[in-house]
Amino acid sequence: MNSDILIIGGGVIGLSIAREFYKKGVAKITILDRSEIGKEASFAAAGILAPQAEADKADDFFRFCDESNRLYPQFAAELFDETGIDIELDKSGTLCVAFSGEDSEEIRRRFEWQKNAGLEVEYLSAQETRKAEPFVSPDVLESLFFPNDRRVENRKLLLALQKYCETNKIEVCENTEIKELVVENDRVAGAKTFTGTFRAENVVLATGAWTSLIKTCGFSLPEIKPIRGQMISFFAPQRMFSKVIYSPRGYLVPRADGRILAGATVEDAGFDKSVSAEKTELLRNRALEIAPGLADLEIRDAWVGLRPVAADGLPVLGAVPGIENLFIATAHYRNGILLAPLTAKILADTISENKNSDYLNFFGLRRFRAAKAETRA
Ligand code: FAD
Ligand code: GLY
Repeated sequence: MNSDILIIGGGVIGLSIAREFYKKGVAKITILDRSEIGKEASFAAAGILAPQAEADKADDFFRFCDESNRLYPQFAAELFDETGIDIELDKSGTLCVAFSGEDSEEIRRRFEWQKNAGLEVEYLSAQETRKAEPFVSPDVLESLFFPNDRRVENRKLLLALQKYCETNKIEVCENTEIKELVVENDRVAGAKTFTGTFRAENVVLATGAWTSLIKTCGFSLPEIKPIRGQMISFFAPQRMFSKVIYSPRGYLVPRADGRILAGATVEDAGFDKSVSAEKTELLRNRALEIAPGLADLEIRDAWVGLRPVAADGLPVLGAVPGIENLFIATAHYRNGILLAPLTAKILADTISENKNSDYLNFFGLRRFRAAKAETRA
């Protein structure tokens, strides 16, 4: 049980990192997962790649999202060549619609800063909005169109990454939970499971919302919390929408197979993964506000995922200070699908080739120490 790279957690982040290491020629890569790979937050997600629709300013996080979005066409094309699986990268863009004065104020603010930042965004009147998406409610006041936002079928992305691992003999151990990291002489000597200890030259924690449950034998990691997201899907026998449509209260995501996903709640509810009838109704109502025609469709499915979030809402990436061979890639919160390709590249570059990236400074662990010191002062 000795690897060059041991990745703990087989969600979109861990799997994408494994692929990146393989491409660099790393021989022995192992992924461990406490359950099945690709069945947690990454499976629950909506697959929206929307740096612009969700951003409030052109900060480092926006640039990180935007850069990762730009990697997607190549990522999708390579995965198709490697696995034959089409991850349904769709470039129809996103639409943010307004139904009240307050909604309008919010989208106008977004329009202003994005125009000033030189980003591509189009203002649409009510009439133009309904021309672009005829099933949007006649109550719509106006909207913004972001032509560079995209979407993928995240479940197919996970299948493609899983197939990539199988084809390339990346070892995947499911139902293998890491309880504890064993640290000796400032190095991770092993990751303990019920069946034995896994050893590796380098260890990457990609354990999402469960990261803080791992015992670390004396050194501390920033707290990562689970934030529950519930979603539902409708089934439409005929295509209703081409774009992802956001209101300030919810969003709709059309899928090629006829499903229309409606999301999502944002709940601080610990590790409870139950679906509630009350939230299903809430999501349905929010979806109907955007498109009343959905009232005729049955709800096909409802599900839950736990988004991993750090105290400041930003990703946590890079080396763990003081432990030579331990790295972390988590806390992607609402954007882990979007951020997977760039996260994987940065992690593999720094571990294999010692390459730096500004993003490792922005999202590195040292910021938590600095914050603690500031609080004490
Ligand atoms: P996960 O997919 O949760 O994977 C972590 C893995 O680690 C799991 O498989 C788990 O079993 C394993 N693990 C944990 N602890 C251990 C342990 N001790 N030992 C072994 N294995 C362990 N993002 C977007 O970009 N676009 C979206 O549209 C979007 N929509 C979302 C909608 C919802 C409802 C939710 C919940 C999330 C959404 N997200 C979206 C966010 C995105 O899903 C997450 O940021 C992303 O999936 C996190 O990936 P991950 O690999 O870190 O976590
Ligand atoms: N990014 C969409 C969500 O997390 O619900």
